[in-house]
Amino acid sequence: MNDIPNELKDKNILVTGGAGFVGSHIVDSLSSQNNVIVMDNLFTGLLSNLEKSKDRIKFVKADILDKALVKDIVEDVDYIFHLAAHVGYIRSIKDPYYDMEVNIKGTLNLLEACRGSRVKRLIFSSSAAIYGDVKHLPIDEDHPLYPKSPYAVSKMAAEKYCFAFHKVHGIPVVALRYFNIYGPRQDTSEYANAIFIFLDKFRGKKPITIYGDGEQTRDLIYIRDVVEANILAATHPAAVGGVFNIATGLATTINQLVDLIRQVSGYEGTANYVPFRAGEIIHSQANVEKAGKVLGFRPKTSLKDGLALTWKELTKREK
Ligand SMILES: NC(=O)c1ccc[n+]([C@@H]2O[C@H](COP(=O)([O-])OP(=O)(O)OC[C@H]3O[C@@H](n4cnc5c(N)ncnc54)[C@H](O)[C@@H]3O)[C@@H](O)[C@H]2O)c1
Repeated sequence: MNDIPNELKDKNILVTGGAGFVGSHIVDSLSSQNNVIVMDNLFTGLLSNLEKSKDRIKFVKADILDKALVKDIVEDVDYIFHLAAHVGYIRSIKDPYYDMEVNIKGTLNLLEACRGSRVKRLIFSSSAAIYGDVKHLPIDEDHPLYPKSPYAVSKMAAEKYCFAFHKVHGIPVVALRYFNIYGPRQDTSEYANAIFIFLDKFRGKKPITIYGDGEQTRDLIYIRDVVEANILAATHPAAVGGVFNIATGLATTINQLVDLIRQVSGYEGTANYVPFRAGEIIHSQANVEKAGKVLGFRPKTSLKDGLALTWKELTKREK
């Protein structure tokens, strides 16, 4: 469980997308000491993700595109964690219009609702996807933005709207650019990212597919550390108006990841190597100095520990 600073106690907190993977963990952290409202249309979110907090929160099944309702809810809110989104590059290619609506217009609804409100801080969940083609490693926040999918474009636009509203209307926003997050409640659907898919395949004792030689790298961060970053972003005085990479700063190859999954699952598994997919990002590694210096953010969970916790939770579901 994360430590909660006094500023985040006895407050009215809105978590959009709070029934999703990341949002539900933020809800669990904050719900025992605050009045938490979760707004989620359950597009991908699940009520079961809110099992731990359900008796302490107010759940509103609603769409972030419902402008009037968003305005109504925001009126009495002190802090907003904005996670509601149409998530992922494959989904966005299938339906770029809906992706644009939810990610851009939904964020705009929230920002408009914040104008003249008592909101102390809006923490926007952004994505490292907005960097697109890597120009230098490790990727710092000044790295150029070359979004390569409709999803990445919509997240970038939403982030830019946040800062435009910060400049024009003084809305106290913070954007967190997450790299690859993993942990319990992760999506194991066809839209999931590699780490989710690997764990699920190992659970089902099925072979995994690795694109390329497995030497491509990712910066993988455990969910509890991401919750910690959100808490720091909400409370640190120097966070307002800032954008921060949220990652470990460590590059892990897919082969190393699979070896660790073998260790935590105790299952050898089979990996089939196939050619790279077009457009695949080869290396990703964040520069996390800014989050460290400004927010005091230090990820605490090693990949092996995080995978073990995730594996335990994933396999518990079947027992
Ligand atoms: N998981 C990652 O590795 C990662 C990486 C980078 C950025 N992010 C960002 O973090 C946030 C949370 O991602 P996640 O992995 O938890 O995904 P998720 O799909 O589990 O969560 C998104 C939530 O938003 C809800 N939602 C979708 N459309 C909505 C709408 N129109 N109105 C209200 N609610 C709606 C969904 O039902 C879901 O509960 C997203 O903004 C995503 O872009 C996630």
